[in-house]
Amino acid sequence: MSAVPDILAVGEPMLEFNAAEDGPLHAAGSFTVGYGGDSSNFAVAAARSGASTGYVTRIGDDEFGTAFLRLWEREGVDAAHVVREPGGRTGVYFIGRGPEGSTFTYYRDGSPASRLAPADIPEEAVANARLLHLTGITQAISTSAADAAFHAMDLARRHGTLVTYDPNHRPALWPVERARAIVMRSVELSDIVLPNIEEGRLLTGAHAPEAVAEAFAARGPRTVVLKMGADGALLSHDGTITRIDPYRVERPVDPSGAGDTFDGAFAARLLEGAPPVEAARYAAVAAALTTTGHGAVRPIPSRAAVEQAMSA
Ligand SMILES: Nc1ncnc2c1ncn2[C@@H]1O[C@H](COP(=O)(O)OP(=O)(O)OP(=O)(O)O)[C@@H](O)[C@H]1O
Ligand SMILES: [Mg+2]
Repeated sequence: MSAVPDILAVGEPMLEFNAAEDGPLHAAGSFTVGYGGDSSNFAVAAARSGASTGYVTRIGDDEFGTAFLRLWEREGVDAAHVVREPGGRTGVYFIGRGPEGSTFTYYRDGSPASRLAPADIPEEAVANARLLHLTGITQAISTSAADAAFHAMDLARRHGTLVTYDPNHRPALWPVERARAIVMRSVELSDIVLPNIEEGRLLTGAHAPEAVAEAFAARGPRTVVLKMGADGALLSHDGTITRIDPYRVERPVDPSGAGDTFDGAFAARLLEGAPPVEAARYAAVAAALTTTGHGAVRPIPSRAAVEQAMSA
């Protein structure tokens, strides 16, 4: 890893407690611990695809903050700009396996990351990076975190750093009108936008995938990648639309983190000079492989694993 990360992500990491047995969360007796938080997943995915990557956040000086520092150290994700708050409690969430599918319960109110503010954004690191990644979740957790995200985008634009943005709309975090206003403004400030089809429809009002991609592109970003789950993705670059076929996996068991992995893998390949179509094909394979294991981070594939799958 070089001293100056090429890719910087800003957001909230959260420890994941995934119920080990089927049944409602209140009856769960044991949990498998994992790592979550869309922007942290992104950073790990980019690092595993070979990019020099750094992360900006606030965590507590609690055990869960330590768990994340250890993760980023293992993964080679630079944490020089991670602030540890004395007495802070790093956010956590619980996944239950109810009869209607997975349930997500978040304990993140008052988390250190919700106190992210413009002063936490390291201008020199943003200027020295080649790509800055932000997400709608980071903007939804608090007004100061939303201000931090806009400040980071502004710094990136002033210093010629590419801005990538994933709306990652979570209806539980904010009302849709506020989300739409902030997300669509962020799209205008971004070079590359990576929504999924559901949030794309909700935010743009368009329906057909091509129309959704075009609605985002009309706001200014040069590149839009619309993620469509098992249907793959749609790339719009300089006005040309290309379908990215899904990579067929035998048994998808857990889609969590697939979108974040797509984003991180795409960013990593782009910075190596890959044409967007090639980067998107690589990212679709990386994201598909992520669905074959439980948890967000553990199944994120290495560069070698993606290349092996692509050549098979
Ligand atoms: N079942 C699947 N089979 C093959 N590829 C998949 C599958 N599910 C997801 N993918 C790949 O992963 C990419 C991202 O998945 P998805 O569209 O679910 O993103 P997302 O909704 O942003 O995810 P997230 O829940 O992480 O926010 C897809 O564009 C596709 O390339
Ligand atoms: Mg997503």
